[in-house]
Amino acid sequence: MSYDLLKDKKGIIFGALDENSIAWKVAEKAHDEGASIILTNAPIALRMGKIHELAEKCNTEVIPADATSIEELENLFNQSVEKLGGKIDFVLHSIGMSPNVRKGKAYTDLNYDFFMKTLDISALSFHKTLQTANKLDAINEWGSVVGLTYIAAQKTFSGYGDMAEAKSVLESIARSYGYHYGKEKNVRVNTISQSPTKTTAGSGIAGFDVFYEYANDISPLGNASAESCADYCVTLFSDLTRMVTMQNLYHDGGFSFTGISDAIVEKYTK
Ligand SMILES: NC(=O)c1ccc[n+]([C@@H]2O[C@H](COP(=O)([O-])OP(=O)(O)OC[C@H]3O[C@@H](n4cnc5c(N)ncnc54)[C@H](O)[C@@H]3O)[C@@H](O)[C@H]2O)c1
Repeated sequence: MSYDLLKDKKGIIFGALDENSIAWKVAEKAHDEGASIILTNAPIALRMGKIHELAEKCNTEVIPADATSIEELENLFNQSVEKLGGKIDFVLHSIGMSPNVRKGKAYTDLNYDFFMKTLDISALSFHKTLQTANKLDAINEWGSVVGLTYIAAQKTFSGYGDMAEAKSVLESIARSYGYHYGKEKNVRVNTISQSPTKTTAGSGIAGFDVFYEYANDISPLGNASAESCADYCVTLFSDLTRMVTMQNLYHDGGFSFTGISDAIVEKYTK
Protein backbone atom coordinates (compact mmCIF):
# COMPACT_ATOMS: atom_id res chain seq x y z
CA MET A 1 0.00 0.00 0.00
CA SER A 2 1.30 3.44 -0.92
CA TYR A 3 0.77 6.67 1.05
CA ASP A 4 2.45 9.01 -1.47
CA LEU A 5 4.85 9.94 1.34
CA LEU A 6 7.67 10.79 -1.08
CA LYS A 7 5.64 12.43 -3.83
CA ASP A 8 7.81 14.93 -5.76
CA LYS A 9 10.91 13.98 -3.76
CA LYS A 10 14.27 13.13 -5.32
CA GLY A 11 16.67 10.64 -3.80
CA ILE A 12 19.96 8.79 -4.22
CA ILE A 13 20.17 5.19 -3.01
CA PHE A 14 23.58 3.60 -2.44
CA GLY A 15 24.15 -0.14 -2.02
CA ALA A 16 21.56 -2.21 -3.92
CA LEU A 17 23.47 -5.31 -5.02
CA ASP A 18 20.73 -7.92 -5.45
CA GLU A 19 17.11 -8.47 -4.39
CA ASN A 20 18.22 -9.39 -0.83
CA SER A 21 19.97 -6.04 -0.27
CA ILE A 22 18.26 -3.69 2.18
CA ALA A 23 18.86 -0.87 -0.33
CA TRP A 24 16.98 -2.85 -3.00
CA LYS A 25 13.84 -2.88 -0.82
CA VAL A 26 14.29 0.80 0.02
CA ALA A 27 14.52 1.68 -3.69
CA GLU A 28 11.33 -0.25 -4.45
CA LYS A 29 9.42 1.40 -1.56
CA ALA A 30 10.72 4.89 -2.34
CA HIS A 31 9.61 4.43 -5.95
CA ASP A 32 6.18 3.15 -4.80
CA GLU A 33 5.85 6.18 -2.52
CA GLY A 34 6.27 8.52 -5.48
CA ALA A 35 9.97 9.45 -5.34
CA SER A 36 12.30 9.82 -8.33
CA ILE A 37 15.55 8.08 -7.52
CA ILE A 38 19.06 7.49 -8.81
CA LEU A 39 20.71 4.18 -7.93
CA THR A 40 24.42 3.92 -7.29
CA ASN A 41 26.98 1.32 -6.33
CA ALA A 42 30.71 0.64 -6.69
CA PRO A 43 31.71 -0.12 -10.30
CA ILE A 44 32.63 -3.72 -9.39
CA ALA A 45 29.18 -4.31 -7.86
CA LEU A 46 27.60 -3.10 -11.09
CA ARG A 47 29.31 -5.92 -12.93
CA MET A 48 28.52 -8.58 -10.30
CA GLY A 49 25.04 -7.60 -9.11
CA LYS A 50 21.62 -7.11 -10.62
CA ILE A 51 21.23 -3.37 -10.09
CA HIS A 52 20.23 -2.72 -13.70
CA GLU A 53 17.17 -4.96 -13.20
CA LEU A 54 16.16 -2.77 -10.26
CA ALA A 55 16.76 0.40 -12.29
CA GLU A 56 14.34 -0.84 -14.93
CA LYS A 57 11.70 -1.62 -12.28
CA CYS A 58 12.10 1.83 -10.72
CA ASN A 59 12.17 3.56 -14.08
CA THR A 60 15.57 5.08 -13.47
CA GLU A 61 19.27 4.71 -14.09
CA VAL A 62 22.45 3.74 -12.33
CA ILE A 63 25.37 6.11 -11.82
CA PRO A 64 28.46 4.20 -10.66
CA ALA A 65 30.44 5.60 -7.72
CA ASP A 66 32.99 4.11 -5.38
CA ALA A 67 31.85 5.82 -2.18
CA THR A 68 35.47 6.19 -0.99
CA SER A 69 36.30 8.46 -3.97
CA ILE A 70 35.49 12.17 -3.64
CA GLU A 71 35.78 12.60 -7.40
CA GLU A 72 33.24 9.85 -8.08
CA LEU A 73 30.90 11.21 -5.39
CA GLU A 74 31.09 14.70 -6.93
CA ASN A 75 30.22 13.25 -10.29
CA LEU A 76 27.34 11.27 -8.72
CA PHE A 77 25.78 14.32 -7.04
CA ASN A 78 26.27 16.61 -10.05
CA GLN A 79 24.80 14.10 -12.47
CA SER A 80 21.93 13.18 -10.13
CA VAL A 81 20.86 16.81 -9.71
CA GLU A 82 20.97 17.23 -13.47
CA LYS A 83 19.11 14.01 -14.30
CA LEU A 84 16.47 14.41 -11.58
CA GLY A 85 15.97 18.07 -12.49
CA GLY A 86 16.75 19.60 -9.11
CA LYS A 87 18.40 19.19 -5.74
CA ILE A 88 18.20 15.96 -3.73
CA ASP A 89 15.74 15.43 -0.84
CA PHE A 90 17.04 12.15 0.57
CA VAL A 91 20.07 9.85 0.51
CA LEU A 92 20.41 6.27 1.72
CA HIS A 93 23.94 5.10 2.63
CA SER A 94 23.68 1.29 2.68
CA ILE A 95 27.34 0.33 2.40
CA GLY A 96 29.44 -2.09 4.39
CA MET A 97 32.52 -4.18 3.65
CA SER A 98 35.44 -5.47 5.71
CA PRO A 99 38.35 -7.21 3.95
CA ASN A 100 39.33 -8.69 7.35
CA VAL A 101 35.87 -10.25 7.82
CA ARG A 102 35.76 -11.35 4.20
CA LYS A 103 39.14 -13.08 4.48
CA GLY A 104 38.28 -14.66 7.83
CA LYS A 105 40.93 -12.72 9.83
CA ALA A 106 40.36 -13.04 13.57
CA TYR A 107 39.82 -9.80 15.55
CA THR A 108 43.04 -10.57 17.44
CA ASP A 109 45.00 -10.91 14.19
CA LEU A 110 43.79 -7.98 12.07
CA ASN A 111 45.57 -6.85 8.95
CA TYR A 112 45.86 -3.06 9.43
CA ASP A 113 45.78 -2.17 5.74
CA PHE A 114 42.51 -4.10 5.57
CA PHE A 115 41.31 -2.35 8.74
CA MET A 116 41.87 1.07 7.12
CA LYS A 117 39.87 -0.14 4.10
CA THR A 118 37.04 -1.31 6.38
CA LEU A 119 36.90 2.13 7.97
CA ASP A 120 37.14 3.97 4.65
CA ILE A 121 34.43 1.92 2.90
CA SER A 122 32.03 1.38 5.80
CA ALA A 123 32.35 4.64 7.77
CA LEU A 124 34.40 7.45 6.18
CA SER A 125 32.37 7.06 2.99
CA PHE A 126 29.42 8.41 5.01
CA HIS A 127 31.36 11.57 5.88
CA LYS A 128 32.61 11.85 2.30
CA THR A 129 29.04 11.57 1.00
CA LEU A 130 27.78 14.24 3.42
CA GLN A 131 30.72 16.62 2.87
CA THR A 132 30.54 16.29 -0.92
CA ALA A 133 26.79 16.91 -0.96
CA ASN A 134 27.19 19.88 1.40
CA LYS A 135 30.03 21.50 -0.57
CA LEU A 136 28.07 21.14 -3.82
CA ASP A 137 24.90 22.33 -2.02
CA ALA A 138 23.19 19.35 -3.60
CA ILE A 139 20.64 18.61 -0.85
CA ASN A 140 17.45 20.65 -0.33
CA GLU A 141 16.58 22.31 3.01
CA TRP A 142 14.90 19.74 5.28
CA GLY A 143 16.51 16.94 3.31
CA SER A 144 17.23 13.62 5.03
CA VAL A 145 20.31 11.40 4.99
CA VAL A 146 20.16 7.91 6.51
CA GLY A 147 22.97 5.40 7.10
CA LEU A 148 22.50 1.75 8.07
CA THR A 149 24.27 0.37 11.11
CA TYR A 150 24.34 -2.53 13.56
CA ILE A 151 24.21 -2.83 17.37
CA ALA A 152 27.77 -4.21 17.38
CA ALA A 153 28.71 -0.52 17.69
CA GLN A 154 27.43 -0.63 21.31
CA LYS A 155 27.82 -4.28 22.39
CA THR A 156 30.38 -6.88 21.40
CA PHE A 157 29.34 -9.51 18.89
CA SER A 158 32.24 -11.95 18.72
CA GLY A 159 32.18 -12.59 14.95
CA TYR A 160 31.61 -8.98 13.81
CA GLY A 161 35.34 -8.17 13.65
CA ASP A 162 36.50 -4.67 12.73
CA MET A 163 33.05 -3.80 11.38
CA ALA A 164 32.19 -2.96 15.02
CA GLU A 165 34.66 -0.06 14.95
CA ALA A 166 33.40 1.02 11.54
CA LYS A 167 29.81 1.15 12.81
CA SER A 168 30.84 3.17 15.88
CA VAL A 169 32.52 5.72 13.62
CA LEU A 170 29.53 5.75 11.26
CA GLU A 171 27.11 6.51 14.11
CA SER A 172 29.41 9.22 15.44
CA ILE A 173 29.57 10.84 12.00
CA ALA A 174 25.74 10.95 11.92
CA ARG A 175 25.77 12.89 15.21
CA SER A 176 28.61 15.26 14.30
CA TYR A 177 27.66 15.95 10.69
CA GLY A 178 24.00 16.05 11.72
CA TYR A 179 24.82 18.98 13.99
CA HIS A 180 26.66 20.97 11.30
CA TYR A 181 24.29 20.15 8.42
CA GLY A 182 21.32 20.93 10.65
CA LYS A 183 22.71 24.33 11.64
CA GLU A 184 23.76 25.25 8.11
CA LYS A 185 20.92 23.91 5.98
CA ASN A 186 18.30 22.16 8.13
CA VAL A 187 19.39 18.82 6.68
CA ARG A 188 18.88 15.89 9.05
CA VAL A 189 21.24 12.92 9.45
CA ASN A 190 20.40 9.66 11.24
CA THR A 191 21.44 6.01 11.38
CA ILE A 192 19.10 3.03 11.57
CA SER A 193 20.38 0.10 13.61
CA GLN A 194 18.83 -2.88 11.85
CA SER A 195 18.24 -6.50 12.96
CA PRO A 196 20.42 -9.21 11.41
CA THR A 197 19.16 -9.59 7.85
CA LYS A 198 19.94 -12.31 5.30
CA THR A 199 21.93 -10.40 2.67
CA THR A 200 25.36 -10.75 1.06
CA ALA A 201 27.01 -8.47 3.67
CA GLY A 202 25.06 -10.00 6.60
CA SER A 203 25.80 -13.60 5.71
CA GLY A 204 29.54 -12.83 5.48
CA ILE A 205 29.72 -12.45 9.29
CA ALA A 206 31.02 -15.54 11.16
CA GLY A 207 28.22 -17.41 12.93
CA PHE A 208 25.54 -15.30 11.21
CA ASP A 209 22.89 -18.05 11.11
CA VAL A 210 23.19 -18.60 14.87
CA PHE A 211 22.97 -14.96 15.83
CA TYR A 212 20.10 -14.45 13.39
CA GLU A 213 18.13 -17.16 15.27
CA TYR A 214 19.30 -15.90 18.67
CA ALA A 215 18.21 -12.31 17.92
CA ASN A 216 14.89 -13.61 16.66
CA ASP A 217 14.36 -15.52 19.92
CA ILE A 218 15.30 -12.53 22.10
CA SER A 219 13.28 -9.85 20.28
CA PRO A 220 9.64 -9.60 21.39
CA LEU A 221 8.62 -8.74 17.82
CA GLY A 222 11.17 -11.05 16.18
CA ASN A 223 13.81 -9.83 13.73
CA ALA A 224 12.89 -6.85 11.57
CA SER A 225 12.93 -7.77 7.88
CA ALA A 226 14.60 -5.80 5.07
CA GLU A 227 11.10 -4.80 3.88
CA SER A 228 10.16 -3.30 7.24
CA CYS A 229 13.53 -1.53 7.35
CA ALA A 230 12.61 0.00 4.00
CA ASP A 231 9.28 1.19 5.47
CA TYR A 232 11.19 2.87 8.30
CA CYS A 233 13.63 4.51 5.88
CA VAL A 234 10.71 5.93 3.90
CA THR A 235 9.28 7.58 7.05
CA LEU A 236 12.68 9.14 7.74
CA PHE A 237 12.87 10.48 4.18
CA SER A 238 9.35 11.89 4.47
CA ASP A 239 8.21 15.26 5.85
CA LEU A 240 6.66 13.48 8.87
CA THR A 241 10.03 13.25 10.65
CA ARG A 242 11.47 16.70 9.99
CA MET A 243 12.65 17.26 13.57
CA VAL A 244 14.47 13.92 13.95
CA THR A 245 18.22 14.25 13.55
CA MET A 246 21.58 13.01 14.96
CA GLN A 247 19.90 9.83 16.21
CA ASN A 248 20.84 6.19 16.13
CA LEU A 249 17.40 4.59 15.76
CA TYR A 250 16.96 0.93 16.65
CA HIS A 251 14.87 -1.02 14.18
CA ASP A 252 15.24 -4.45 15.70
CA GLY A 253 11.93 -5.76 17.05
CA GLY A 254 12.97 -4.78 20.60
CA PHE A 255 16.29 -6.71 20.65
CA SER A 256 18.37 -3.79 21.97
CA PHE A 257 16.34 -3.41 25.17
CA THR A 258 15.62 -7.03 26.00
CA GLY A 259 17.84 -8.89 28.48
CA ILE A 260 16.30 -12.34 28.29
CA SER A 261 13.14 -13.76 26.73
CA ASP A 262 10.80 -16.69 27.38
CA ALA A 263 12.13 -18.41 24.25
CA ILE A 264 15.69 -18.36 25.64
CA VAL A 265 14.53 -19.50 29.11
CA GLU A 266 12.77 -22.44 27.48
CA LYS A 267 15.87 -23.37 25.46
CA TYR A 268 18.06 -23.44 28.59
CA THR A 269 15.51 -25.25 30.78
CA LYS A 270 16.61 -28.86 30.98
N1 LIG B 1 22.51 -7.67 6.77
C1 LIG B 1 22.55 -7.39 8.08
O1 LIG B 1 22.43 -8.27 8.94
C2 LIG B 1 22.69 -5.95 8.51
C3 LIG B 1 22.31 -5.58 9.81
C4 LIG B 1 22.49 -4.26 10.22
C5 LIG B 1 23.04 -3.33 9.32
N2 LIG B 1 23.40 -3.73 8.06
C6 LIG B 1 24.00 -2.73 7.16
O2 LIG B 1 23.16 -2.52 6.06
C7 LIG B 1 23.95 -1.98 4.98
C8 LIG B 1 23.61 -2.73 3.70
O3 LIG B 1 24.03 -4.07 3.75
P1 LIG B 1 23.15 -5.30 3.26
O4 LIG B 1 22.97 -6.17 4.43
O5 LIG B 1 21.97 -4.83 2.50
O6 LIG B 1 24.18 -6.09 2.31
P2 LIG B 1 24.60 -5.92 0.77
O7 LIG B 1 25.81 -6.76 0.62
O8 LIG B 1 23.45 -6.21 -0.10
O9 LIG B 1 24.98 -4.35 0.64
C9 LIG B 1 26.26 -3.82 0.91
C10 LIG B 1 26.56 -2.88 -0.26
O10 LIG B 1 27.77 -2.13 -0.05
C11 LIG B 1 28.27 -1.88 -1.36
N3 LIG B 1 29.65 -1.40 -1.33
C12 LIG B 1 30.76 -2.06 -0.87
N4 LIG B 1 31.85 -1.32 -1.08
C13 LIG B 1 31.44 -0.15 -1.66
C14 LIG B 1 32.10 1.04 -2.11
N5 LIG B 1 33.44 1.17 -2.01
N6 LIG B 1 31.37 2.03 -2.68
C15 LIG B 1 30.02 1.91 -2.79
N7 LIG B 1 29.33 0.82 -2.38
C16 LIG B 1 30.04 -0.20 -1.82
C17 LIG B 1 28.15 -3.26 -2.00
O11 LIG B 1 28.35 -3.25 -3.39
C18 LIG B 1 26.74 -3.65 -1.58
O12 LIG B 1 25.78 -3.20 -2.53
C19 LIG B 1 25.40 -2.11 5.44
O13 LIG B 1 25.83 -0.88 5.98
C20 LIG B 1 25.32 -3.15 6.53
O14 LIG B 1 26.38 -3.11 7.43
C21 LIG B 1 23.21 -5.01 7.64
